Amino acid sequence: MSKRITHCAKYTAAASVLKAWLLLIAVLPALFSSCTRTTQLKETSQRGYTADKAMVVSAHPDATRIGVEILRKGGNAFDAAIATQFALAVAFPAAGNIGGGGFLVYRQADGSIGTLDYREMAPAAATEKMYQDAQGNVIEDLSLSGHLASGVPGSVAGMFETHQKFGSLPWAELVQPSIELARNGVVLTEKEAAGLNSNRERFIKYNKHLPYLTNENNWKAGDKLKHKDLARTLERIRDNGRDGFYKGETADLIVKEMQRGNGIISHQDLENYTAAWRQPITGKYKDYKVISMGPPSSGGVALLQLLTMVEPYNLSKYGWQSPETIQLMVEAERRAYADRAAYLGDPDFVKVPVEQLLDEDYLKDRMKSVDLARATASNEIKEGSLPVYESEQTTHLSIVDAAGNAVSVTTTLNGSYGSKVVVEGAGFLLNNEMDDFSVKPGSPNMYGLVGGKANAIAPGKRMLSSMTPTIVEKDGKLFMVVGTPGGSTIITSVYQAILNVIEHNMTMQQAVAAPRFHHQWLPDEIQHEPKAITPEVRAILQNRGYKLQERGTYGRVDAILVLPNGKLEGGADPRGDDKAAGY
Ligand code: GLY
Repeated sequence: MSKRITHCAKYTAAASVLKAWLLLIAVLPALFSSCTRTTQLKETSQRGYTADKAMVVSAHPDATRIGVEILRKGGNAFDAAIATQFALAVAFPAAGNIGGGGFLVYRQADGSIGTLDYREMAPAAATEKMYQDAQGNVIEDLSLSGHLASGVPGSVAGMFETHQKFGSLPWAELVQPSIELARNGVVLTEKEAAGLNSNRERFIKYNKHLPYLTNENNWKAGDKLKHKDLARTLERIRDNGRDGFYKGETADLIVKEMQRGNGIISHQDLENYTAAWRQPITGKYKDYKVISMGPPSSGGVALLQLLTMVEPYNLSKYGWQSPETIQLMVEAERRAYADRAAYLGDPDFVKVPVEQLLDEDYLKDRMKSVDLARATASNEIKEGSLPVYESEQTTHLSIVDAAGNAVSVTTTLNGSYGSKVVVEGAGFLLNNEMDDFSVKPGSPNMYGLVGGKANAIAPGKRMLSSMTPTIVEKDGKLFMVVGTPGGSTIITSVYQAILNVIEHNMTMQQAVAAPRFHHQWLPDEIQHEPKAITPEVRAILQNRGYKLQERGTYGRVDAILVLPNGKLEGGADPRGDDKAAGY
């Protein structure tokens, strides 16, 4: 017996040595390549578009052009943000919208900061179990497609409120360029044409007449798409401000559309909709101050949690794409998303323990269980216990004006083309944001995110978001404006863009173009773009117990970096048609 044990021990020892050698052989190229990786990236991707004074970066060239025209006319960053959002509603209907909602984060040239919440709200007739059948099962697709999937839109109220407080040019001048764009037609890019073609069946299911269907299923790049009904809706908004959407003909058309498809948004819901100015979430990462969006977005809280959790580690020494950097970032993500699921919701309805979630000691404690030799399993991680207390298609724009005011806006319909319902006669798509509520505790939404009571449906409540429009300061001065679409991956994409610049010395363009990875606690896997993790590092991570899931590209980070000489560098994500321009 003892002889057998000795033999076994010998074999085990020999196997361990062999395993260590095999691992070393796998690791060596990775270690070598991690030293040269950033250099390679720099060689393949240069600095982005630079401008002397003012810049707009958005998801569509027409929207960026319109934003820059407003800046050139003497409009400020807020004016440009309003005009760019209206233009996106015309030129980029997959996500740009007047039938959705969003968040705006600003930092004025004098350093004052703030945020505006114009997230959609659940209609008054919404109920906690409205997407469940009598047996308590989630009814497939009900919160995702069709009339019942929409929250009360907030975008027009948000833009109007922004203008009331900060606008410098007349409202009508900000809406007019989009009316002309809608009337004269938008020239489709290849990506836009493909998006319309691939959604054709879904559009047919919910709509009779709409411009997207006029071309017998074969849109191609260069085709022109005109939006006559939308142009008329925008004229009503131009002439009557928020009332041009929430009252009168547009409101009547929305309610009629609801009646056609068993939707529940009423005139009263539309009239009652309000946007809310909220305190920004702020925190430090090394010498940088991060200013981001608070609840009902989880973005700012989770981003600050992530940055604080990795701050004690020397990521730049470990190197971009090194196993250790990926592990530390992923372990922080696992923990932040577990907290998100338990604690985050609409602050007008639930007490969100923001201070405790951002407490440095709490976050240090959360990272104590990290062991670089092996992955933490997500089922070993629950939300942290806090002393007191018992949520892919979106678009982002970053703007800096000549005076130094900065605006970071993320706006969404939720899924691509939202609920697929176009308000007949009004020509715009409605959101499917109701799916961002926890339609049943523990049941994953379209992004695989789970949630609980804090994000349960209630009338007038705003659904939890991941949108993370963010501004970063360094030494009290504007440093970066950043944000992205991407559902649950928004937070980790912004996190990587910031760390790519600060820790890995990338240009803004390199930082947004760099391949990305993502972990959201559940499912327990690192999702990654094909080139985000090299085969050698993949082998190491798998050996340490990580599950890896390669996926297609995701997110479209649009950002602006203030360079040491005061010029602006745009980062326009090459994954989309995104464009930076300025002067
Ligand atoms: N609809 C995506 C988000 O708000 O996170």
